[in-house]
Amino acid sequence: MQLILDYLAAHEARFLRELCDYLRFPSVSAQPQHKPDLERCASWIANHARSLGLEVEVCPTNGNPIVLARTPRRPSTRRPHYVVYGHYDVQPPEPLELWTSPPFEPRIEGRSLFARGSCDNKGQHFAHLKAVEAFLKTGTELPCDITFLIEGEEEIGCENLAPFLRARKKDLRCEAFVISDNGLPSKRHPALTYALRGIFAVEIRLDGPKRDLHSGLFGGAVDNPAMALAQMLASLRDRRGRVNIPGFYDAVAPLSKYERAMLKKLPGNEESFRKLVGAPALFGEAGFTSTERRTARPTCEINGLTSGYQGAGSKTIVPAWARAKLTFRLVPNMDPHQVQRLVVAHFKKLCPPSCKLTVEAGHAGQPYLVQPDSPRAQAALRALRGAFGCEPVLMREGGSIPIVNDFKRILGVETLLLGLSLPDDNAHSPNEKFDLDCFCAGMRMSALLWPELAKL
Ligand code: BES
Ligand code: ZN
Repeated sequence: MQLILDYLAAHEARFLRELCDYLRFPSVSAQPQHKPDLERCASWIANHARSLGLEVEVCPTNGNPIVLARTPRRPSTRRPHYVVYGHYDVQPPEPLELWTSPPFEPRIEGRSLFARGSCDNKGQHFAHLKAVEAFLKTGTELPCDITFLIEGEEEIGCENLAPFLRARKKDLRCEAFVISDNGLPSKRHPALTYALRGIFAVEIRLDGPKRDLHSGLFGGAVDNPAMALAQMLASLRDRRGRVNIPGFYDAVAPLSKYERAMLKKLPGNEESFRKLVGAPALFGEAGFTSTERRTARPTCEINGLTSGYQGAGSKTIVPAWARAKLTFRLVPNMDPHQVQRLVVAHFKKLCPPSCKLTVEAGHAGQPYLVQPDSPRAQAALRALRGAFGCEPVLMREGGSIPIVNDFKRILGVETLLLGLSLPDDNAHSPNEKFDLDCFCAGMRMSALLWPELAKL
């Protein structure tokens, strides 16, 4: 193992240059004009994996290609098989003016690598790839078979991945999936994540008059869709942070005393969290800590709100329509389809007769929860301890990786979640970064993980 760890340390500078090359592709899956960049990015990572000695396939889908890269198999010996999942697509970088340096021109400052996609998720799965390179290039036998599955539609809901899993079930049969696409509380607190929130996305639209109207000539005698929508949205949540949709909390699994005590031990406090987000004061469901609110309690968020005139100066109109994008984060044992039914019924009830309501359901993902005390989880904890040189913690995450449920449903396997992204890495925000200490510890963790898992 020392040989592997020495190799990882000796080649850090080159790894960084390669990661920067990977980060230069503006692989923004949400924006159709970037389709060619996604394809070029997929080819780049495929060729890179091939150059390390992996057997690589770039699999076309109805959307962006999926890259499969397998370590060379020994037909005579059956070794345990693990699949490392990652995504090469990234979130839109906008608003560009808030970036200190351009999002697709990677910049290193101290131990931070700034670029869109650096932590979410290129840097994180690249750490696993480099660990496997260390085995292959030092001629050290890998104790497991490993397949990388790197897709390009994670940030837009993974539409084409489930059919791919069904089609390639045989190749993907494995002990478990390994994902680093989430966080850890601090460099001193490497973490195994045992729960993720689910999600339900929906867009709602109110149409009023057939065109924008002069608000002096017509206002007062015709409903204002922006006002009507604002009133509907405002009623969705009370000032104590509870979602006001009947039945919304019915399936929510309460946190046990034990778990609440465990979550309290995670580093950070309310004030450090307030500083991190930079809000004047914290807000959330009464009776819960910030950690509980953002990982183990469901929410309703407005992600975007549009209506009327947005340009300079004023324009006196009653807008013809108003629109909002919402997402609900869900926790065990909520079902996104049941939430969808409740939400749609509720909007129908709230909508005044003066507006026409259109509800368009978007992507949906189940929440995820695994046993944190399985032998596999223990093996992962040992790898984390060895790589970071300190005691790991168990945590829940507030974000969603809906595909883990498909791994379970379609392939029958659980996922080990070993995040490498720090709370201040600005995932989905301007100035996204990846911490190079986390990158290095992540490579070591991956290197230590395979022998630990092979022992089980
Ligand atoms: N890497 C994140 C998910 C994540 C981040 C999980 C931090 C846990 C902790 C992923 O790329 C992501 O952003 N997922 C989306 C899913 C959605 C588009 C279905 C999310 O959580 O908003
Ligand atoms: Zn993301």
